[in-house]
This record gives sequence, structure tokens and C-alpha cells, in this order.
Amino acid sequence: MKSPADFYKPLAIGAPMPLRELPVKAERMIHFFPPQNAKMAAKVPDMVKQVDVLLGNLEDAIPADAKEAARKGFIEVAQRVDFGDTGLWTRINCLNSPWVLDDITEIVATIGNKLDVMMLPKVEGPWDIHYLDQLLAQLEARHGVTKPILIHAILETAQGVKNVEAIAGASPRMHGMSLGPADLAASRRMKTTRVGGGHPFYGVLEDKKEGRERTLFQQDLWHYTVAKMVDACVSSGIKAFYGPFGDFSDEAACEAQFRNAFLLGCVGAWSLYPTQIDIAKRVFSPDVNEVKFAKRILEAMPDGTGAAMIDGKMQDDATWKQAKVMVDLARLIATKDPALKERYGF
Ligand code: GLV
Ligand code: MG
Repeated sequence: MKSPADFYKPLAIGAPMPLRELPVKAERMIHFFPPQNAKMAAKVPDMVKQVDVLLGNLEDAIPADAKEAARKGFIEVAQRVDFGDTGLWTRINCLNSPWVLDDITEIVATIGNKLDVMMLPKVEGPWDIHYLDQLLAQLEARHGVTKPILIHAILETAQGVKNVEAIAGASPRMHGMSLGPADLAASRRMKTTRVGGGHPFYGVLEDKKEGRERTLFQQDLWHYTVAKMVDACVSSGIKAFYGPFGDFSDEAACEAQFRNAFLLGCVGAWSLYPTQIDIAKRVFSPDVNEVKFAKRILEAMPDGTGAAMIDGKMQDDATWKQAKVMVDLARLIATKDPALKERYGF
């Protein structure tokens, strides 16, 4: 194991210093766009105003014969558009693919100073992060990149889930992790063809009752993995995200899946379709009444210790911490969302 002091040294002479803390940013949705599609690329300046993170996708869903056009299109858009405080990310191809080396080298060479995060698919263990970490440091040094490009892993293989804690702590470059339910289902041999969401046969059958049919209560197929991912990420100081929800026609189910992830500790999800942007905004922005109540807890216990009663509910040091998580997140979102700022009362 590396000594703690070496953990925060740049991995190449001339590369920027690794960050000790993640930049504080609202990242409620990571909105995917296919950069080889000129119509979509033309919409980017508009999209930048609507989303927290915009991601140029180079991996799955981009046909093999469009991989180079996607990479070129992404670089062109990144050079042309002012992203302001909206995150600029890309999802590169996986490490054993024929495209990934050019993805990494060309992107860092051309837009290394604009790119915030590189999303790495099909991460199996910390060795995948170490490889990308080293290569990024060499390229950052060569191209005069001044802030480290962060790595976001997709958790989408059984082996990745087994190694999730080691992945989360593999490098100070780790930004966070997203659940990839489609690849993960395939890797685990789960019997579902859906991209995220529930399955009508995965449930608990209620006890026998005389004279009436028993109900099968549907359960969340992803609960175990999301909870495991959240613990791994939060204990390493990085962020957890739910990934894609493939049924664009079922907004209610998408919202329910996003909300489960939010309640368990995820900070955002992917949006693959315009309607999913608003769903993510609704879900990953804390509830106005909860924020107002949390503010009252913080006001009632200014130093965060002791106990207080508010509307008949007991508050103590632990609920003060819960309230602080809620108010800090609301404050962050308020900086991006004037309507919510007003409703939160900041
Ligand atoms: C996302 O990449 C997934 O496989 O679900
Ligand atoms: Mg995938």
C-alpha cells in the first residue's frame, strides 16, 4: 500500500497537485449527449443553462463507426461553448477497447483545461483507476493542464461491486461513482432486460389470507448495490449517483427510482432524455418544507449540541447533523436555481 504522504503527490513531474477536497458543486443530473450528432451538438449552448453537468458520451450507444466522429464532435463543442459553472464531462470508451487511448490522449491534449471529469466505464478494481490516474498525470504534465481532471467510475460489473471500496479509495482523483444497471445486470446474469427500475416478478408475497388474493409487493432490484456504493463512496469522501433509467415513457417509475437513490444518499442521476432533467431537479433538490424545518433545527441549536423540541419532535446532535446536510445541499442548489432559492428562503 502507498504511504499516506505519497497519496497526494502528483504522479508525473509537472502535473497539477491532486485535490484534497472535491470542488463543491450541485450535480443533480449528468445529462448525456451524443457528440457526433450535429443537431444535438448545436443544442449544447442551450442545454448548458438547463443542467448541472453536461456529458459527451463516447461509449455505449455510440456506434462503432461513429466513435471518432463522437470524439471530434465532443472536442469541438467543448472548445466552442462557454460552460460557466456547468460541469463538462465525458464518458470515454472502456480500457480494453480500441478507441480509449485516443479518447484520453486527444481530449487531454485539446481541452484538458476545460474538462472537469472523465467517466470511466466497466471499472473492475483499483488497478483500472491507477492506470488512468497515471496516464492522466503524464498527459496533464505534457499539455500544461493546471487542475487535475477527476475520474468518475461506473459500477457495472460483478467484480467492480466486489471491489467497490478499493475503487472508491484508489486515488485522490476519484470524483464519484454511478450505478450502471444495464451492464451490471448482464455481468451478474440477472434476468432482466430493463435499464434500471424494478421488475414485476421481484417482490415479496404477502401472507396467505382467507378469501382474498395475495399481493406481491414489488421490491427494488438495485437497493443492495446502491446502498453498498453509497457506503463505499461516502466513507472515501466521494459522491454516489444512480445511473440511467431506460424507459423514457414511464416518468413516474423514473422518479421513483431516482427518489430511492436520493433517499439512500445519492446526490444525482443520469438524464438521457430531456424530461428526465426536470425529474432529477425535482428529486435531487431537497423538499422545501424539509429545508425550512432543518433551518429551524440549526437555529434552535446554534452550536450543534444539546437537545431541543420543535413541533413536538425531539432534536439532538445527530438530527442537527442531518439538518446541516439538508441545508448545505439546499444552499448549493440555490446558487444554480433562483426559483428554489426563493422557496427555500435564502
Ligand atoms: C450504464 O452504462 C449501464 O450499463 O447501465
Ligand atoms: Mg454501461
